[in-house]
Amino acid sequence: MNASLHPGEDIAPIPGDLVESLRDFGYTLPSALADLVDNSLTAKATEIEAYLEADGPDSYVAVVDNGRGMDQKTLVEAMRMGTKGPLAARSDNDLGRFGLGMKTASLSQGTRLTVITKASDRPTLVRRWDVGHIRKSAKWELLTDPTAIAAPFVDKIDGMCSGTAVIVEDLDRATYLKVAASEVKQHFGRSLDSVRRHLAMVFHRFIEDGVTICLGSTALPAWDPFLKKQSTKLATEHFALLGKTIDIVPYVLPHHSHLTDEQHDDAAGPNGWNAHQGFYLYRCRRLILPGSWLNLHLRKEEHFKLARIQVDLPNSMDAEWHLNVTKSQVAAPAALRDDFARVARNVRSQAAAVYRIRGERHAPSNAPPHRFVWKREESRGAVRYRIDRTHPVVQALLHGGCEHAGLLGEMLELIERTVPIATMLQDPVKSLEGAALESDEKAAEQFVDMMLHAERFLISAGKTPADARQIVMNAEPFVHFREVLSDMLNKI
Ligand SMILES: Nc1ncnc2c1ncn2[C@@H]1O[C@H](COP(=O)(O)OP(=O)(O)OP(=O)(O)O)[C@@H](O)[C@H]1O
Ligand SMILES: [Mg+2]
Repeated sequence: MNASLHPGEDIAPIPGDLVESLRDFGYTLPSALADLVDNSLTAKATEIEAYLEADGPDSYVAVVDNGRGMDQKTLVEAMRMGTKGPLAARSDNDLGRFGLGMKTASLSQGTRLTVITKASDRPTLVRRWDVGHIRKSAKWELLTDPTAIAAPFVDKIDGMCSGTAVIVEDLDRATYLKVAASEVKQHFGRSLDSVRRHLAMVFHRFIEDGVTICLGSTALPAWDPFLKKQSTKLATEHFALLGKTIDIVPYVLPHHSHLTDEQHDDAAGPNGWNAHQGFYLYRCRRLILPGSWLNLHLRKEEHFKLARIQVDLPNSMDAEWHLNVTKSQVAAPAALRDDFARVARNVRSQAAAVYRIRGERHAPSNAPPHRFVWKREESRGAVRYRIDRTHPVVQALLHGGCEHAGLLGEMLELIERTVPIATMLQDPVKSLEGAALESDEKAAEQFVDMMLHAERFLISAGKTPADARQIVMNAEPFVHFREVLSDMLNKI
């Protein structure tokens, strides 16, 4: 049967329901703002201002740019939910792909989106989506009047040669507004900070090229993930896909001892050193992925944290890289996985060498020796494994005032005497759990309480907090998670 001769029902989406679904593509406040900044950059803006206002029902988020603006036809088309789709050809510098971002990013934060725009020598225009109106009218009907919050931006755009302002209000998703009034300031401050870090990271190459991106009145400095002036740049590689070239520039960043503490903290990035290792995927110079081993089955490990690899992609292979609407995810195409894995392994091993060698050479001479949980004792040819009673966690348990300390001591001896060595020796080493600790964040989490407990004990026994931290950090297992744990403890 030929389906075209017997068409089924023509069913348009229900506006009120679909618009609510479009609000949940998985944006965060920083990624939503970045999507709006993408549009500004595509419109050739050189000055972009992001505004965040936390003032109860008058709260809003806005992005204003001095780009080329839009005439009426372009504006109305731009407001369409799903304008120029993913299959449409795009110019080389177009940061868009789905024809959705302006709407989905904005409405992920609030229910009212006003766009005010002016193309050069054209009048200032206003169009607005109001989710409440869409639901009530059950129509995709644009509004044309600016809200009270958006009105001042009409004057602002009017006074420019060309430009666009996108204002989002009724911020029903803003977590910083959903806390006790007394805590809004603190939570808002954190949100501002994450927006600042995200934009400075994602758009660092545009900022380096002279584009000004301001948060409020403050221009954001570029965050260079590669510390180019101090890092070792490895040989550049080029791979071809779909007749276009992908450039890869691997860097091994300098060891901590070659940086000031301030440089080291700054280079850590918004999510910390461990999280920011791996490939940095740029699409038309805009950072999509700030450190990932992609889908290569390689883990993030503390000793690979100095490996950061710049990858430049054009916007013509989005489907192959599985780019998502929020521009925050990609996966390496099957045809390139082996090449990427080879690059990754090479850079990882060089980064690990710098991490270890420099680490040893520059370790402070007064650093206490690492403490292991188990120690080997040999006496007259007999070998015995014992739990080290000087390990800070063991000390805290045995001498920290626990009423069961005596029983605990006896239990440790019992464990030592009953380790099933003979059985263990018969098991293949690979199948034994616990032989190698994975130094990822999830594994580290389980040690935070234990570490703090040991620290508190050492402080109560007269150590300074700094010494206590150092002693505990140098002990097994914490030493394997040093960076991740430091990041976590700094956030507590
Ligand atoms: N700040 C702006 N200045 C000028 N034109 C803009 C601006 N923001 C949006 N537009 C216009 O609106 C259109 C739709 O933008 P939208 O972000 O919804 O989709 P897109 O950028 O094409 O794709 P994507 O969904 O990947 O972001 C753009 O193609 C552009 O023509
Ligand atoms: Mg866009």
